[in-house]
Amino acid sequence: MKLLNTILKEELDLYLETWNYHWNIEGPLFPSLHKLFEEQYEALRELVDEIAERERALGGVAETRVALEIKKQRPAKEMLTTLAERHEGLSAKMKSEWIPKLEKAGDPGSVDLLTRVLQEHDKMAWMLRATAK
Ligand SMILES: [Fe+2]
Repeated sequence: MKLLNTILKEELDLYLETWNYHWNIEGPLFPSLHKLFEEQYEALRELVDEIAERERALGGVAETRVALEIKKQRPAKEMLTTLAERHEGLSAKMKSEWIPKLEKAGDPGSVDLLTRVLQEHDKMAWMLRATAK
């Protein structure tokens, strides 16, 4: 399904961005942020896997297109707020666009999966925002 592959791409990008920050974080918050980013990229990997396998279960092909390029070092607070914004953006898209489309398409299995993904994004955004204060 085209929509699930679109979502898969977005989730993969966020997974890679979070993993990249895990490597490149610097500053006094290094120990806690290195760990927080690790927990979150691992959780995102599980979600990416579930979305890809949902696509396969529906008879499609799970597509991968990596477009992310991160070259410059970023301050810790910028990493936290950037990731929080990305999670909030994906959560908002799930609510306003992707879940309603899947509901319309009569696919409650994917709606259930994405509802769980949305909850994970809300939780990770909260953790990132709380850490950025
Ligand atoms: Fe590591």
